[in-house]
Amino acid sequence: KNLFQLAIDGPAASGKSSTARIAAQRLKFEYIDSGAMYRVVTLAALRQNLSPLSLDDASKITYLAATSHIFLHTIFNPPPISHTSSSKPSLPQTLVYLNGEDVTHEIRSQEITKNISGIASNPDVRQVLVEKQRALANGIYDYEGENSSFKLDTLRKSPKGIVMDGRDVGTVVLPNADLKIFVTASARVRAIRRYKELQQQQSTIKKPLIDFNKVLEDLEKRDKSDYERKISPLKKADDAVLLDTSDMSVMEQADKIIELVLKRA
Ligand code: C5P
Repeated sequence: KNLFQLAIDGPAASGKSSTARIAAQRLKFEYIDSGAMYRVVTLAALRQNLSPLSLDDASKITYLAATSHIFLHTIFNPPPISHTSSSKPSLPQTLVYLNGEDVTHEIRSQEITKNISGIASNPDVRQVLVEKQRALANGIYDYEGENSSFKLDTLRKSPKGIVMDGRDVGTVVLPNADLKIFVTASARVRAIRRYKELQQQQSTIKKPLIDFNKVLEDLEKRDKSDYERKISPLKKADDAVLLDTSDMSVMEQADKIIELVLKRA
């Protein structure tokens, strides 16, 4: 293994994905969003009218996961994100493809989020995705899916390492990662972050008001299913560094993580 492996786990809206992206950009690491892969499989299953919660459909969904071409491609912004910049920096964005089709936005819908726990608790689907995640962590990209319009030269050139975020990266996917971080924040703080995100997303079109309590409730529901599922539950690895971000900005979180990486590298 020659790429530095940074594993970041934590509950929904803990700030891990924004932090991971900024850290990847500044460290010149590749970024791998493992949650996006569970989202893609959920989308693929729903499109085939397979039910994530039905035991009858479990093996069909596993087959679908194994045969779908999932491709993640993070666009890093050319201007470096600096503390002094007054305008809000834009985060690196991960484009997500299912069999060559851009599903970046579709996989973030509430419909997908609602159905994902059935997919995430399917052990065979997890095995398929964990294998794909390990390959990516070792720099092996399966970018040649059918219809894929990808060119290798758009990928990060010789990254110095990888950062993968998710729920079981430090415990299952990359148990030998060079650095593991477990990000937490109180449910209330996370719900406020998610609420603001949702508000921003719908600023242009007039849509019904978002109910904060509903956001909090959905988040707690997802926490519960992530923490309590039998297979690969959300759990801090024994050797992970705990980072409580309740009172930290995204930039402070990224600084902290970079400091830890530089100490280990
Ligand atoms: O990170 P994100 O919120 O997009 O992940 C969506 C869902 O995918 C999580 O709530 C979890 O159920 C599942 N997931 C997982 N293992 C991972 C990443 C995500 O089970 N490594």
